[in-house]
Amino acid sequence: MNISIKEKILSQLINAKGEPVSGQKLADELNISRTMIWKHLKSIEEDGYIIEAIKKKGYVLKSIPDIVTPEQIIPNLNTKQLGRTIDYYTTCDSTQIIAADKAREGAPHGTVVIAEEQTDGRGRLDRSWNSTANKGIWMSVIIRPAISPQFAAQFTLVSAVAITQAIQEVTNLTPEIKWPNDILINGKKVTGILTELQADMDIVHSIIIGIGVNVNQELSAFEESIQKTATSLKIENGEEIDRSLLAAKILYYLEKYGDLYVENGFKPIKILWESHNCTIGKRIRATTLRETLEGVALGITNDGVLEIKLDSGEIRGVYSADIHLLGKN
Ligand code: BTN
Repeated sequence: MNISIKEKILSQLINAKGEPVSGQKLADELNISRTMIWKHLKSIEEDGYIIEAIKKKGYVLKSIPDIVTPEQIIPNLNTKQLGRTIDYYTTCDSTQIIAADKAREGAPHGTVVIAEEQTDGRGRLDRSWNSTANKGIWMSVIIRPAISPQFAAQFTLVSAVAITQAIQEVTNLTPEIKWPNDILINGKKVTGILTELQADMDIVHSIIIGIGVNVNQELSAFEESIQKTATSLKIENGEEIDRSLLAAKILYYLEKYGDLYVENGFKPIKILWESHNCTIGKRIRATTLRETLEGVALGITNDGVLEIKLDSGEIRGVYSADIHLLGKN
């Protein structure tokens, strides 16, 4: 990974946690002049950071803008590959579209496309995805796992587990997963995942994991039609969340559980998924492309397929559907 001098300076300021960082020490370490350090600091300030110069001590980072730039995410990032290349947009149509193009052009495993705002955010089943500016995490991650295409759908469940874990760690909220991959808090949707595959018959070229997390919106940011079913982390815990920290944690768990899945198969992921799920044991309505089924969700198979026991006693497996929770069985 190529970290620019500016990113290195910013990293040092962030890591100093409010303590002064000496200009001379920065210049010596980075092997550039004090004037160049000063120019980089000006450029950092132009990005919205507030830096105070304290005589004879150095520079103190006073405030960080609420943005999800690579400079903000990378100091929080504890991954080997995921997020080591970040393509950032203040606004774009859809990170998913950009990531798909990049994947076709050969972008490396772990490349992230992230935006402050999407004008044409896409959801599952051809729906649109509300992507308010500066309030959420709208990102697409390109991964290139060594698995065959038939197993690619399981990555949706891997992603759901990873995001649930990250939200739990950063907020102390307790998210639940509604099969296959909606993340709910207090029964309302806070995160959607859209997984898309680029593959031949027997080889996965890439999986593009599109992640939309409602982070700092007020209820009024959601269209009236979804105000009863959607929520944000801020609505649920009453305080602003650091979006770049959360994005970095999501990438951390996505790498951790992605590796676990590739090395050990679906079994450990299934156990984690089940421990976070709010679907199993509930009476549900499943709307697939062909039909609507009503019954009790029995569990997921080793392939991630949802098994439903219909009122007739018949057990049906569902690969893809819209699930409506109807309550206990
Ligand atoms: C769903 O319908 O639940 C899935 C929503 C996925 C939204 C994310 S936001 C980042 C990425 N870009 C898109 O256009 N969609 C996904």
